[in-house]
Amino acid sequence: MAKLAPKPASRLEGIGVIARIALFRSDMFSSQPARLYRAWMAQIRVPFYRSFLVNEPALVRRVLNDEAGAFPKSAVLSDTLRPLLGESIFATNAAQWRAQRDIINPAFKGCPQQAFSCMSAAGDAAVKRLIEDSDGQPVEMEFVTSFLAADIIFRTLFSVPLSAETAAIVFTSFREYQKTQPLWSIPALLRLPKWVPRFRSKIAGRHAKVIRKLLTEMVDARQIEIDAGTAPDDLATSLMTTVDPKSGHRFSKVEMVDQVAIFFLAGHETSASALSWAFYLLAMDEGVQDEVAAEAQLLSDPPLPAELQKMRFTKDVFNETLRLYPPVPMFLRDADEATEFRGCPVPAGSMVIVSPWHLQRHERLWDRPDEFDPYRWQTDNGKTRKRDAFIPFSAGPRVCPGAGFGRIEGVLMMAMFLKVFRFETTEEVPVPVAHLTVRAKDGIYLRVTLRDGLDTISKQIRE
Ligand code: HEM
Repeated sequence: MAKLAPKPASRLEGIGVIARIALFRSDMFSSQPARLYRAWMAQIRVPFYRSFLVNEPALVRRVLNDEAGAFPKSAVLSDTLRPLLGESIFATNAAQWRAQRDIINPAFKGCPQQAFSCMSAAGDAAVKRLIEDSDGQPVEMEFVTSFLAADIIFRTLFSVPLSAETAAIVFTSFREYQKTQPLWSIPALLRLPKWVPRFRSKIAGRHAKVIRKLLTEMVDARQIEIDAGTAPDDLATSLMTTVDPKSGHRFSKVEMVDQVAIFFLAGHETSASALSWAFYLLAMDEGVQDEVAAEAQLLSDPPLPAELQKMRFTKDVFNETLRLYPPVPMFLRDADEATEFRGCPVPAGSMVIVSPWHLQRHERLWDRPDEFDPYRWQTDNGKTRKRDAFIPFSAGPRVCPGAGFGRIEGVLMMAMFLKVFRFETTEEVPVPVAHLTVRAKDGIYLRVTLRDGLDTISKQIRE
């Protein structure tokens, strides 16, 4: 029998403005009413601001694809992320964004295949680390998957593994940044000009500095290697040397740190979030877990890229995880000009929210929307598997350039872990919260043991 995937409580109807603002700034999920899981569109009343959440697939297509130019990334987003990401591609718009994307697209071309060996080496190291903790005591899986995903992107960018010490710094800094820098800054919501002081959280600023210092050192060291002709052929070299064919522009050092920062953030936070929820869902459903484990036994050691074609069911489980826990829960856009949604006037400057979180659990679009049912991806019957209501990587011109990378990484890591480990839930049920990515309020704790017959491997590794 399919199991219900944990979902946060919705806000009670009729609570006061102050309580709503506080909820909105701390966690977007619990600040929203349950009716958003049924509505085609809703006007969300945030003080000082008109905002519209769109759930109807045709409206979502309009915002992300057909009229994408009229709905640029929201100013609120760039305001929140600037201390960490500067002018990185995630939050820029118009010509600045186009020029960045024209460099990133060719630099990234072919990268998923090259990255396979980085993924497999980082996966192997992560399995060995987890064997040390596979004694049945609860293990915090968000840290495990963050270390793993950061290691993968670090190796792909810079051709070196991430040390345990750096991984701990990165994990803590990103987590604290997200906790202390609310996605909704009041000056940004009020649309105050950039010169008005933001009074950003000092703690968030400190954490952003730690991460940027680390990345600046890596970029500096790589520039020296590029100048000396000794740089490895990896993503960082590619990003730093690719020239925009139209303008002849290439990233300056400051721009480069911004872009490396977003690759590092987007490339590991999202995958870490997806993997930690995937392991939780598998722990919840023993039958599904055993099926993934059986498929995983087909992987060679080390795994070969072609073997991923055989991981059909693991792919379905990954899709179902992305449906229930889309790592980027909401996409924020601004309406450039006045327009209309379903006959309702939308004034220029309104915020438009596309929410995969609500769309992918929508009661009118999905059968049993809150159930973990990977088998739904094997049928194609109407509401069971709804392709146009599934956008974990976004869509249109701003679609995630790392989607291929993220999919390979997700399936490969699940298979490598399930080949070796069995996961069981503890009494702690994780509560999803919407930070930059969907995380669990107090972590995801699972008991980890070795699958039958693997004790000898464990002994060899411990020795
Ligand atoms: C499971 C893994 C991932 C998921 C679910 C995911 C999801 C997304 C989504 C939804 C967006 C667009 C957000 C919006 O429209 O507001 C995005 C953008 C982006 N992602 Fe990913 N991502 C993943 C992995 C990666 C990886 C591995 C990389 C790089 C190695 C990456 C790099 C980026 C970049 C650079 C952008 C900004 C693109 C632009 O604005 O033009 N992502 N991602």
